[in-house]
Amino acid sequence: MTGQKEKILAISGSTRKNSSNFKILKFISENINKEFEVELFEELESLPHFNPDLDTEHPPEAVVKFRSKIAEAAGVLICTPEYVFSLPGSLKNALEWCVSTTVFSNKKVGLITASASGEKGHEQLGLIMKTIEAKFTDETQLLIQGIRGKLNAEGTITDEKTLHAILAFITNFEKEIGEVKLK
Ligand SMILES: Cc1cc2nc3c(=O)[nH]c(=O)nc-3n(C[C@H](O)[C@H](O)[C@H](O)COP(=O)(O)O)c2cc1C
Repeated sequence: MTGQKEKILAISGSTRKNSSNFKILKFISENINKEFEVELFEELESLPHFNPDLDTEHPPEAVVKFRSKIAEAAGVLICTPEYVFSLPGSLKNALEWCVSTTVFSNKKVGLITASASGEKGHEQLGLIMKTIEAKFTDETQLLIQGIRGKLNAEGTITDEKTLHAILAFITNFEKEIGEVKLK
């Protein structure tokens, strides 16, 4: 193995300051194998509203930066709540900026929906990611329901079943990314 760490881009679908989804990503970044370097992407709000007229050869600078972070990453983690039975608008907007590109084609992704309920949102996330040709398996996706009762204010996962599910998710995701490295 070379000294170069594999990059993982972690995107929280919630831009809320005290977000449970952000805390989960932080937990993953602290517990994933140290051969990976996780960047917690906190600029979802800096992306302009998607507009096909702006999706030209020279898209807005924030979009260029976002796309190149995805392109350079060995894998992308998305952890999101469900908003009104769908994806939060900011996350959907960011993904719309990727439709005309191939940045997600064959990209290994881990998908977590952590929400009050989240079933519909999780389904939609899977459909969108499949559409933009990202790669994930049943083992690299996770639906966590009743999330607010499973974390404390410090971001500690207090529910044992959820903790085990997230740790298993991390192992599975590492394995998937590891396969990218072997190629
Ligand atoms: C605008 C809005 C819409 C929501 N709609 C849903 C929903 O359809 N389904 C659901 O499970 N939770 C819904 N919730 C509750 C979120 O799941 C809950 O607030 C969650 O903790 C948000 O994630 P966060 O802690 O990372 O911000 C909604 C919350 C907001 C603010």
